[in-house]
Amino acid sequence: MNVVMIGAGYVGLVSGACFAEFGANVTCLDVDAGKIEALQNGKIPIYEPGLEDLVHRNMRSGRLQFSTQFQDWIGDADLVFIAVGTPTRRGDGHADLKYVYAAATQIAAHLKGYTIIVDKSTVPVGTAREVKRVIHQANPTADFDVASNPEFLREGSAINDFMRPDRVVLGVESERAEALLRELYRPLNLIEAPILVTDLESAEITKYAANAFLATKISFINEVAQLCEKTGADVHAVARGMGLDARIGKKFLHAGPGYGGSCFPKDTQAMIRMAHDAGTSSRIVEAVVAVNSAQKSRMVVKIREALGGSVANKTIAVLGLTFKPETDDMREAPSLAILPALVEQGARIKAHDPHGMDEARKELPDSVEYTDNIDDAVQDADAIVLMTEWNQYRGLDLEKLKSMMRGDVFVDLRNVYERKLMQAYGFQYSCVGR
Ligand SMILES: NC(=O)c1ccc[n+]([C@@H]2O[C@H](COP(=O)([O-])OP(=O)(O)OC[C@H]3O[C@@H](n4cnc5c(N)ncnc54)[C@H](O)[C@@H]3O)[C@@H](O)[C@H]2O)c1
Repeated sequence: MNVVMIGAGYVGLVSGACFAEFGANVTCLDVDAGKIEALQNGKIPIYEPGLEDLVHRNMRSGRLQFSTQFQDWIGDADLVFIAVGTPTRRGDGHADLKYVYAAATQIAAHLKGYTIIVDKSTVPVGTAREVKRVIHQANPTADFDVASNPEFLREGSAINDFMRPDRVVLGVESERAEALLRELYRPLNLIEAPILVTDLESAEITKYAANAFLATKISFINEVAQLCEKTGADVHAVARGMGLDARIGKKFLHAGPGYGGSCFPKDTQAMIRMAHDAGTSSRIVEAVVAVNSAQKSRMVVKIREALGGSVANKTIAVLGLTFKPETDDMREAPSLAILPALVEQGARIKAHDPHGMDEARKELPDSVEYTDNIDDAVQDADAIVLMTEWNQYRGLDLEKLKSMMRGDVFVDLRNVYERKLMQAYGFQYSCVGR
């Protein structure tokens, strides 16, 4: 089966490499010539555990290639996946579909024989039908179907999520498209991954509904964490007590600095917009977004209070910048809201992150200093702020770090450590909801 993946970003590259691993012949096309050249030379432009090996192995086997030349590959494709970005459109919160429609137009010009064009990007309801219209308009004789196959992988565990998904959602309009997509995903039958076949619209909404629901769990527990702080309860105990109820589930009930990343912030915004455009409302998701935004501001206050009411002229060692561990993705990371506020209030920031510093440099104020190791960040600091729970921050040498610091404040925004232990090491410890 010949598969073309349009867009070689987090989703396109991982999905393309995984389809190649399934046995398909895959070409990833991207308009970013630098990215494609790097990939052709075996350089992986993102940090995702296991991806380098997977890409190299499938390149060697001849089943995975990279190109900028649409005309060379679209004609022979059985399936063309659109996996380009759908960021928030400036000003109105709507998903910006300009990359999707540009891809559709580029595809249309080169179609030959029956082809399925599949939206893998997260796109608002109605987009697959619009892609169909765009392609038909550009190439009225083309023989094609459109389909929606939203992607649920998580950065940091993307390959495992793709290879062992909780479910695969296929929005289709024809039996022919369903049969070919089922054939592509057939290797997953071995592990009995559920394949859910729906209409186009249901598949599109499923992706947003799932992400908005997960974001709701996070904002919900962050609100509960505030109540815990005011009343002396422990949000860990509360979350456990809630999560053991199978109807609720344990996952995504971790209080912290708020959700970030390339998906939840934009997908919740787009969901609100989509509901509005459809003449309905999305009041729960609106509240989720507001709570998340307030949570980031609250973290600034928490850090300031931990430092006695002012961060001016205080040196703060920040451990972790990415929105979660095991990725270099800085998109919408809480650190991008929290650190500029601290800098504005006069703090000196020394930051460390295992993989996020290159991206962070592009986004954070110039005055933020970056260190190659944890010790250099912590040396002479007044406070340590644990922002992202990378594994290397879970087992810190607390005695050594404490002795290197000028101050004794430790603000644990991920609730990694226990208060008693931290107090035993002489830290003034604060965390979220405990
Ligand atoms: N990142 C995630 O964890 C994740 C998970 C599930 C779904 N998604 C969704 O998948 C989509 C892609 O996300 P991403 O994180 O991979 O984005 P990304 O920004 O990492 O990659 C998008 C790629 O598309 C390329 N591109 C743009 N226009 C193009 C065109 N016309 N032709 C060819 N290439 C083009 C860009 O150069 C870029 O390399 C989004 O809709 C996102 O919401 C992302």
